[in-house]
Amino acid sequence: MDKPTSPFDPSGFRRALGMFATGVTIVTARAGDGAPVGMTANSFNSVSLDPPMVLWSLAKSARSLPVFHAAEHWNVHILANEQNDLANRFARAGEDKFAGLALEPALADAPLLAGCAARFQCRTVFRYEGGDHIIFVGEVIGFDQSEAAPLLYVSGEYALATRLSRPVATDAGATNGGAAPFTEELLGYLLGRAHYQFMWSFQRTLDELGISHGEFFVLSLLAVRSGLDVAEIAAHTAYTGIAADAELLAGMCARGLLAVSNDAVARYALSDSGLAASRQVLAAAHAVEAALVEQLGRREAAGLRNLLKHLIRASDPGLPVLWGAGL
Ligand SMILES: Cc1cc2nc3c(=O)[nH]c(=O)nc-3n(C[C@H](O)[C@H](O)[C@H](O)COP(=O)(O)O)c2cc1C
Repeated sequence: MDKPTSPFDPSGFRRALGMFATGVTIVTARAGDGAPVGMTANSFNSVSLDPPMVLWSLAKSARSLPVFHAAEHWNVHILANEQNDLANRFARAGEDKFAGLALEPALADAPLLAGCAARFQCRTVFRYEGGDHIIFVGEVIGFDQSEAAPLLYVSGEYALATRLSRPVATDAGATNGGAAPFTEELLGYLLGRAHYQFMWSFQRTLDELGISHGEFFVLSLLAVRSGLDVAEIAAHTAYTGIAADAELLAGMCARGLLAVSNDAVARYALSDSGLAASRQVLAAAHAVEAALVEQLGRREAAGLRNLLKHLIRASDPGLPVLWGAGL
């Protein structure tokens, strides 16, 4: 007799399931001998509000199965967006997953991890067979939450949550029937407008200190990488379209903002007053940023940083590396 064929292909089934965006959790428990176990799971879900109950499912092939089966208590940690390394660590079998992790006091014996978006401390109330998984249902005996943005998982990749933005109110009279290629969806427009609006608030501080944009770029660059020569400074700042050339640097030296070495090739560094000016300018930039993050929300700000980093990598014309990650 022919083997019955599967009604769908397993990898397609996985891909389709991956369209359901979830959070990422680590579920922990403690073995009878006191050893902690934990694993990354995105099968977590809420079940009941009264009594408070949640569920998750565990593959029968998981090494931690016997411990979770025997444990009376387990803790579910909803991971924050900065915990993707931890998610990877707890998704690998066979490592000492808890090495170097500080645990916090818990209501029962299951390990309680720190730095999460939310945590649910649970007592097993039901276990069900679910094909190649066991479904655990737990009563929540304690929970807490932080302001951290949660880590998401969708289509096999970690992701961040951002709110859908409300459409910007448009003045119908100002449009020319939609024929113009210049639209509010144009990425260049959105980026440019966001940049100039940000600089609008920040410009006042630059004016008060009498610092030009070119000088601001040099101050910020040398605060991160000291001892660059004129060619290196120009290469780092070329993308701004503002020439950070020998003349600009000479002017900054004359004003006491930079110190220059007497090497064969002159190398520039911030002087004490240059360092003070750069701190003042960056403090102003931080203040503008803090006010914006307050309006946007931390979650949006984390999503925005993430997208801007993608964009910077994608549009990099080959600038010298400034930070560790290449940005
Ligand atoms: C994002 C993500 C979600 C996962 N969700 C589950 C899950 O819900 N249930 C499960 O059994 N395994 C899940 N896994 C796989 C386990 O984390 C992985 O098999 C782990 O090594 C099991 O640990 P253990 O073998 O030490 O028990 C997930 C992995 C990742 C990366």
